[in-house]
Amino acid sequence: MCARPISVDDRDGWIAVCDLDRLKLEGIVRVAGRDLLVIWNEGHVVVCERACPHEQADLALGQVTAGRLHCPRHAASFDLRDGAITAGWPSAPLRLHPVRITGGQIWIEARELF
Ligand code: FES
Repeated sequence: MCARPISVDDRDGWIAVCDLDRLKLEGIVRVAGRDLLVIWNEGHVVVCERACPHEQADLALGQVTAGRLHCPRHAASFDLRDGAITAGWPSAPLRLHPVRITGGQIWIEARELF
């Protein structure tokens, strides 16, 4: 879990959620106080919901391979470019959040959380 407390950047409404260096080491980081994950995926940062949209399994226990996040409960996986679930599964896509990186810090838009 990201140890740094969440703070809102008053200038433009973005929230710092994790250090980039830490994410590169850990691969998947839970965001303190939010049901979000920050994922290092093939050189890109992805922020998504922690609960699987199929049956709410904890995706923090999943695995990332070949650009997909694999749910730990069933065989479905999610494309980390757009959140699309494996074809044929009766579920909504995984919700992804816009991300920006500034000064080694990963930020998400505050309005995306409410
Ligand atoms: S709970 Fe994640 S695929 Fe079923």
